Amino acid sequence: MALSTQRRGTSAGVGGYVAPVDLETAIRTRRTHKAFGSEPLAREEIEELLELARWAPNHNLTAPWRFRVVGPEALARLKEAAGPEGAAKLNRAPTLIVVSCVLGGDPVQDEEDLHATAVASYIVLLAAHGRGLAGYWRTPGVLRAPEGRAAVGLPDDERFVGLLHLGGPRQEKQPPQRPPVEQTTVFLS
Ligand SMILES: Cc1cc2nc3c(=O)[nH]c(=O)nc-3n(C[C@H](O)[C@H](O)[C@H](O)COP(=O)(O)O)c2cc1C
Repeated sequence: MALSTQRRGTSAGVGGYVAPVDLETAIRTRRTHKAFGSEPLAREEIEELLELARWAPNHNLTAPWRFRVVGPEALARLKEAAGPEGAAKLNRAPTLIVVSCVLGGDPVQDEEDLHATAVASYIVLLAAHGRGLAGYWRTPGVLRAPEGRAAVGLPDDERFVGLLHLGGPRQEKQPPQRPPVEQTTVFLS
């Protein structure tokens, strides 16, 4: 399946024209990036990625994920809440999306909704990779703290799941080691 034929310019010259990539190759080659070009994603491109996230499996079709695309004022509030060291790390990517999950209070449904929200987050990262973008799922402590939650308007009934970083890639990333399938799998008789 062709995931992308889009053109993506980058400040470091990594990437450029992105050839169509099949799904399994995309899964293997998606990486966590910590350096990004300065150009933010266009609103339409963000909307396209979040539209794809709607297709995540979710039990009882609760669509529990919530995405907050961080604008300049929200970023300033978040940096203020994070303090100087944390604030510097919030400058790494030009586009940040807070992902949270609406919790209804039923323990089983809440657990399943968190799983579904994680899948939706992964869809965003994988689809971004398919378009030649770099991504990073980060869980900074500030978004677990009351000040950070308030900075991005997270209500009490939403669990913070991730701060997705998106932008153009600036470096080649080597894949970290993965345990072999045998280490994590058992075929039951
Ligand atoms: C739920 C979740 C939370 C994560 N939080 C962080 C984080 O706070 N900081 C970080 O450096 N990486 C974080 N990561 C990224 C992982 O470190 C990364 O996926 C792992 O090192 C494997 O690298 P890869 O994504 O390039 O395959 C997180 C990933 C997940 C799924």
